[in-house]
Amino acid sequence: MSMSEKISLVRPDDWHLHLRDGDVLADILPHTAARFGRAIVMPNLKPPVTTVEQARDYRQRILDALPARSDFEPLMTLYLTDNTTPEEIRKARRSGFIHAVKYYPAGATTNSDSGVTDIQAVHAVLESMAEEGLPLLVHGEITDPAVDVFDREAVFIERVLLPLLARIPALKIVFEHITTADAVDLVRQTPERLGATITPQHLMMNRNAIFQGGINPHHYCLPVLKREEHRQALVSAATSGDPRFFLGTDSAPHPRTAKESACGCAGMYSAHAAIEFYAQVFDEAGALDRLEGFASFHGADFYGLPRNTDRISLMREAWKVPEILRFGKQELVPLGAGEVLSWRLL
Ligand code: DOR
Ligand code: ZN
Repeated sequence: MSMSEKISLVRPDDWHLHLRDGDVLADILPHTAARFGRAIVMPNLKPPVTTVEQARDYRQRILDALPARSDFEPLMTLYLTDNTTPEEIRKARRSGFIHAVKYYPAGATTNSDSGVTDIQAVHAVLESMAEEGLPLLVHGEITDPAVDVFDREAVFIERVLLPLLARIPALKIVFEHITTADAVDLVRQTPERLGATITPQHLMMNRNAIFQGGINPHHYCLPVLKREEHRQALVSAATSGDPRFFLGTDSAPHPRTAKESACGCAGMYSAHAAIEFYAQVFDEAGALDRLEGFASFHGADFYGLPRNTDRISLMREAWKVPEILRFGKQELVPLGAGEVLSWRLL
């Protein structure tokens, strides 16, 4: 049990982040840039970021929207499609600003229509990624409508991920936003080229939260929240000190009207209090001493990037999360809206 009143850690990075585009950038970027040194930026815009040129332009729009004097660094990704070429992969590696390629099974989640329809069909591209040392970031959910939505990650491991790991042994893979004990076990049993990100919501909540006091669209994301036993497996993985588990918020803002609707979009916004959420989880697990590895070291080491050198501090002090944030001309309901958190960023 830790009685610390203050935590100081090397500045963390967010290894899985949705920033969207346009006028909302200036509203949400300050939250991430105040906490994190770098973030892996997801490419599921409309249209998706599929080329090095598109990624270059998107990166510039992000830099232009940053608060003055921020040295936050967006780490760009390409969106893998059935038509991605090995030449684009080589160009991506040479660019210096593209750090990974994102694999969405077509139809698995928000803006995934252009995703891969058959992973076997992109074999040559995956081989070129292995050669170039560019990691594949996986949204690990099977899209077969016959598979129960709560089982989609576990079935994806059997049907897609295990065969893929066997077929291209040199490919580095990040299993993004893992939600099950099955995924934790897989990472633990696989050699070091497989890593995994874990979100704050999957550490803090189980699937009861979706239905607490009526159906709650703000607790809907993909992969969907799972049973309590899975949440506990994720907490134990994140706080274990195992370097293959690292911080990735999957912060994914949608306007309030798109969440509070007859067909609410998937995604939770956590960037406003991301490191504070993780601190609370690690504190409650009696593992505050492991937070820095998970948040600041493991991801950089996996990607082969230097660790940050500056620091951030958190103080044990109650503060209330706002009910509503600005999101361009719309409103955004943040994760933990109106709730009291126990750690504050200094
Ligand atoms: O809940 C989610 N929201 N899961 C994803 O995979 C995508 C994300 C988004 O872009 O909104
Ligand atoms: Zn995501």
